[in-house]
Amino acid sequence: PSQFAVFGHPIAHSLSPRIHQAFAQQFGIALEYRTIDAAPSVFADAVRHFFSEEQGRGANVTLPHKSSAFALADERTEAAARAGTANVLTRLADGRLAAHNTDGAALVRDLTDRHRLDLRGHDTLLLGAGGAARAVAWSLFEAGVQTLTIVNRSPEAADALADAIGEPARVHTRYWEDLGNIGSFDLIVNATSAGTLGQALTLPLSLVGSRAVCYDLGYGASAFGFLAWARATGALHAYDGLGMLVEQAADAFQLWHGKRPDTEPVYKSLRTQGA
Ligand code: ATR
Repeated sequence: PSQFAVFGHPIAHSLSPRIHQAFAQQFGIALEYRTIDAAPSVFADAVRHFFSEEQGRGANVTLPHKSSAFALADERTEAAARAGTANVLTRLADGRLAAHNTDGAALVRDLTDRHRLDLRGHDTLLLGAGGAARAVAWSLFEAGVQTLTIVNRSPEAADALADAIGEPARVHTRYWEDLGNIGSFDLIVNATSAGTLGQALTLPLSLVGSRAVCYDLGYGASAFGFLAWARATGALHAYDGLGMLVEQAADAFQLWHGKRPDTEPVYKSLRTQGA
């Protein structure tokens, strides 16, 4: 049977196997989906082995391998090329590997379909300009946010991202040091890796507008600090990235199996189980 896997480091606590098994059950598909822990130095070899020797059909890729996954692929979707990272690898019929990035689409679906947010007219603040931020920036822009302000600790990366999007009327950058005097926003997306690294973000209360939605791309412990800050500021809603995780898994599932799973019961069941 075809094999599926998620590559990461660490990966033991990944929810992806559960999510994919739950999707497969919706269609009566018997699935082999496992976690593969690969250190960065052996990632490329582990991927090649999986696809050429172990009947690998598709893989999800998570931290810290998303850039390497993009680099080793033979073909890249536009979304992956824009981000320079990939969260999905698919073996094509001729054995070559295609890289996809479905994180941005997944975030927008989670915000608009699950959380019922109409992004049009939202002044949006994107914190971070690394791989995760690049994966979602275009999607937020294309979903119609009124403005997208990108702020990164190192300003060069924020400028490079804004320049790449190339819509100076709606997308611009500010300095991290100026976060206290750039006004308030309707949507604040934390795409920094501070939470994952166990570092605290010090953010001013003034960022949070009266109807602001705050969203952390991570979930679990990594999102805790930012969401606690958001709730303390009186944000209207504070969401973690669990919904985005389930949505990006649905995109991968559709790429591999040609069927669109129902994400809501899977999301709800993960929530009830304390994810
Ligand atoms: P990822 O794939 O998670 O995006 P990355 O590409 O290494 O990882 O990017 C990490 C992002 O988090 C960067 O925008 C980084 O800012 P710098 O470019 O200035 O390094 C940001 N980041 C990490 N730790 C941070 C912290 N303590 N405070 C603010 N930003 C932080």
